[in-house]
Amino acid sequence: LTHLLSTEGLPREVLTHILDTAASFMEVSERDVKKVPLLRGKSVFNLFFENSTRTRTTFEIAAKRLSADVINLDINRSSTAKGETLLDTIDNLCAMHADMFVVRHATSGAPYLIAEHLARVGRDDIHVVNAGDGRHAHPTQGLLDMYTIRHYKKEFHNLTVAIVGDILHSRVARSDIHALTTLGVGELRAIGPQTLLPAHLDKLGVRVFHDLAEGLRGCDVVIMLRLQNERMNGALLPSAREYFSRYGLTPAKLALAKPDAIVMHPGPMNRGVEIDSEVADGAQAVILPQVTFGIAVRMAVMSIVAGN
Ligand code: CP
Repeated sequence: LTHLLSTEGLPREVLTHILDTAASFMEVSERDVKKVPLLRGKSVFNLFFENSTRTRTTFEIAAKRLSADVINLDINRSSTAKGETLLDTIDNLCAMHADMFVVRHATSGAPYLIAEHLARVGRDDIHVVNAGDGRHAHPTQGLLDMYTIRHYKKEFHNLTVAIVGDILHSRVARSDIHALTTLGVGELRAIGPQTLLPAHLDKLGVRVFHDLAEGLRGCDVVIMLRLQNERMNGALLPSAREYFSRYGLTPAKLALAKPDAIVMHPGPMNRGVEIDSEVADGAQAVILPQVTFGIAVRMAVMSIVAGN
């Protein structure tokens, strides 16, 4: 694995290897060993062309725990504002001896463009990790979601997992669907209004529900998604109140899932829109553990793509 661009097409053995490696990093951190020398002397460039709290920070922590040097390019103060292209920016960072680019970009495919460019200019030794591209993929979020599910539920084959909300614009949903399918999830459901679900989900083996109560019945895992307004291009949206009344996860709705169901959310959450605070802060929520697992998962990804 030279780059991590998507969970689509990753074999089960690779997914499992990443999750197992992350588990070993979790064990190490629980023993209070904060740093390992796997990326000592390497330079990791965080290139976040879109906002981020969790992904950018946990990539930085993960790289530092692998003993890498981390450079966070401040995109707003960079020369992209003066018209420099993405690939010219990359060439210049290569000239500064970059070893890895962690890329978030609003345009689907941007990390692929960078990986292809690096191959074209003979820099296959530089690795690209996709930290979220447009509505296409967010593979490390997908992997940390798999880690979370495996941590709490152990196996995938006997689980019913529901993804709820704006799946159409969600790169997280796409990465989760590919990973869950490869890992052999028992049943995968998508719940949301017709306008926020992509076509042909059934071809991916996903059962579609438009009624939240119906879709939640008997679920082991509920993954909530926010409305991704920034990718809707002015489409007519339901009001927050209207959306919450139909698709907001309240304690009463959650009671329809299995009593030991876990509630996940990639963040950022919009309380009172897709999730009630009582659920977000409740005993079944594993939303903050997801963030913690993200550090170990990103350590695993970076160390594996770097050849360790
Ligand atoms: N889950 C996620 O990608 O969050 P951030 O946008 O804060 O990185």
